Amino acid sequence: MKTTGRRRVPLRVAIVGAGKVGTVLGRVLVEEGARITAVVSRSRSSARSAAAFLRCRTHGDALTAIPPGTDIVFIATPHDAVAGVASTLARLEGLEFGRMGACHASGMLTASVLEPLAERGATVFSFHPLQTFPRSFPPRRIVPLARGIWYGADGPRPGLRMARRLARTLRGHIIEIPPEFRELYHATCVVASNHLTVLLSVLREMYGRVSRKEAPRLDPFRPIIEATVLNVFATSPASALSGPVARGGVETVAKHLEAVRASLPALLPYFTRMTLETARLAIERGSLTPERREALENLIMSYMQDSSTTGNRK
Ligand SMILES: NC(=O)c1ccc[n+]([C@@H]2O[C@H](COP(=O)([O-])OP(=O)(O)OC[C@H]3O[C@@H](n4cnc5c(N)ncnc54)[C@H](OP(=O)(O)O)[C@@H]3O)[C@@H](O)[C@H]2O)c1
Repeated sequence: MKTTGRRRVPLRVAIVGAGKVGTVLGRVLVEEGARITAVVSRSRSSARSAAAFLRCRTHGDALTAIPPGTDIVFIATPHDAVAGVASTLARLEGLEFGRMGACHASGMLTASVLEPLAERGATVFSFHPLQTFPRSFPPRRIVPLARGIWYGADGPRPGLRMARRLARTLRGHIIEIPPEFRELYHATCVVASNHLTVLLSVLREMYGRVSRKEAPRLDPFRPIIEATVLNVFATSPASALSGPVARGGVETVAKHLEAVRASLPALLPYFTRMTLETARLAIERGSLTPERREALENLIMSYMQDSSTTGNRK
């Protein structure tokens, strides 16, 4: 909230795109004292149900629903719709562009996509929530996980100031992303969430083979996963690394690679590549003698050549 004299003025935000991100962040805003001035979406039904969740009476499928006095228009549409929304919005009359901010939630796009709005005097910025909002989860379940998160932002200085204010209202923080690294930033976010999910899916597939269940629960692995994450955050990936590669246990690693090739050949490229990355980390940590390092690298390389022919999934 902004303070004018002794009165606290709530931030007034319009949401465009009543999907997971718009609905969840809109709800955090409401719970933190902001006011949603309008919810606009491609379909009226999405706008209506999100508006009910966001305690907002103004909703519809046209941007003209956004009232003057809105402080920030938050565009939470899919990224390929952002440019269209920005240029339609910039053509509207009746909005106070000079005192209005506009942002979008796309990880791939910079603030420059909002240029038509900047030309009308709006303060623009990108505002990508560094969190996962799975489509199959109800918004209520995601809301608690959307507080205290980070937002990848860029834009002119006033835009970054406004991004900070919006993030503060959401109990979060921003990280400034240089526009030239936007795509690499988004690929980095993919590693943090999607690759982690895939890693857990590979774990489940391997454990499924060991336990003879097709899709067993991962509960027995939860303590080791959680301890590993805690150790990495408390120190660094190199310090937290344990296991046969870090110890230079070439014989054990050879048996692991052979076991994967024999039982789950489709996973061999993944397992081999990850073993190579583990060896790189062990080298960074300085825990391998030159002889062990060479033996390990030769072993992994022989399987990498092999896995390019055995690893094709149907
Ligand atoms: N999902 C995530 O984990 C995540 C994480 C970080 C950032 N993001 C980014 O956040 C943005 C929204 O993602 P999301 O997951 O919330 O997507 P989503 O659930 O598919 O929701 C997008 C919403 O935008 C609406 N929409 C589509 N085109 C529109 C238009 N031209 N005008 C107005 N509304 C329009 C859709 O409307 P109708 O329902 O009315 O048809 C839909 O409800 C994307 O840029 C995405 O990359 C997503």
